[in-house]
Amino acid sequence: MTKTRDNWGSKFAFILAASGSAIGLGNIWRFPTVAYQNGGAIFVQIYILFVLLIGFVVLIGEISLGRHTQRNPVGAFRRLAPGSAWKHVGVLGVLSALGVISYYSVVAGWTLSYVFTTAGGIFNSQLTQAEISEVFDGTVGNPLKAIFWHFTFMLLTVGVVIGGVRKGIERWSKILMPLLLLILILLVIRSLTLEGAEIGLSKFLEADWSKVSGTTVIAAIGQAVFSLSLGIGTMMTYGSYMNREENLVRSAGAVCFLDTLIAILAGLAIFPALFTMKGMEPEVGAKLIFIVLPRLFSEIPFGVLFGTGFFVLLSLAAVTSSISLLEVPVAYFVDERGWKRRNATLLCGMIGFLVGIFSALSLGAVDWLSEITTIGTRKMGFLDLMDLFMGQYSMTFGAMMIALFVGWRWGTPALLKEITRGDDPPGRLRKIIAFQIRYICPLLLIALIAILIINPNAFA
Ligand code: PHE
Repeated sequence: MTKTRDNWGSKFAFILAASGSAIGLGNIWRFPTVAYQNGGAIFVQIYILFVLLIGFVVLIGEISLGRHTQRNPVGAFRRLAPGSAWKHVGVLGVLSALGVISYYSVVAGWTLSYVFTTAGGIFNSQLTQAEISEVFDGTVGNPLKAIFWHFTFMLLTVGVVIGGVRKGIERWSKILMPLLLLILILLVIRSLTLEGAEIGLSKFLEADWSKVSGTTVIAAIGQAVFSLSLGIGTMMTYGSYMNREENLVRSAGAVCFLDTLIAILAGLAIFPALFTMKGMEPEVGAKLIFIVLPRLFSEIPFGVLFGTGFFVLLSLAAVTSSISLLEVPVAYFVDERGWKRRNATLLCGMIGFLVGIFSALSLGAVDWLSEITTIGTRKMGFLDLMDLFMGQYSMTFGAMMIALFVGWRWGTPALLKEITRGDDPPGRLRKIIAFQIRYICPLLLIALIAILIINPNAFA
């Protein structure tokens, strides 16, 4: 291992790439609906609270572990706790990153296909609701189409990651992130100027206490962990390419801020739009994005343009997240096994693609994959189960283990030493970070995992 390790070209490169990872389908698609189902403004406030209590400090912990060891998640734990079982947390991260990318790419593939469907002008005002649904079923339920778009999206991801940290990830993040922000702002303006926008806006921004319960808190923590890409080694890997002189705490703060900002902007873009349509209750999940929104775009002036813009936005957000997912196993093969980046990327992309085929076929194409089991009242297909186990359980568990590791094994003095290398955070802030990572994060995350063990469908 004599060659020098890849690193970011500037301090903004890390912030852009890491917020590119954080900002994804989770912000634009998941956050608005989870917020709506959980009481609107109250959820947003609870969410922000957990971003500050858990997200921000676990993010600092993850980046620090990566930067300190200059290693992928498995290598990082190996180095700091040699011969111990801690490396399995890294192994779980690498496997989960492959698991998440496998289905993330399927969903991203649908959004990519909708860029073309929408641009082709198919969603016009003559189309009925049923016909719009048919377009959706014809996309996700058609095996060849679903696999084709999943493959195309994975190919794009592989294409970026193969270029390396600077010439691939950094270069594309610099182009795609500003574009994403621009499109989102245009969409927010369009949405807020629709007639009757206030109605939807109030649904998103007014606090509805009747919808707040214990599950709200669970949903908020789960969403914060997923949205900030925590617990599966992504931020550790990106941190390992970060320069020692950079101010880590401020960069982590910027990532949390941007991630939350984009989620709220996405809510502002989606909610007014939904409620201006008479007689339509907002659907959740895939139906919201692929059925309700296209119908709206078919009715407003310049709908084709805004509709296409929206799916371009989703695809951009998805690709900057998926490259960070692929980078985790790639860094593992490069660091630990001495593989060439090219081979590692092709192999990991291939695994993600092959496993993803099961998800791609689980929305109607193959019956048994579409309804594997029922959790609570929800029928779960392969894709739903992958999301539950990899995107929720595994990431939350990983975040808990990282907090425990940093707070108790690596220790807060080592953490503070790492974060003060290139920065001089005020003494109070240092104390708060140390206290949170040692006590607050493990406590809250252990409680959450305990609840999930007792009641496995709390997330479902
Ligand atoms: N944070 C991303 C999103 O909000 C998803 C993601 C999870 C990306 C884990 C990388 C690692 O969509």
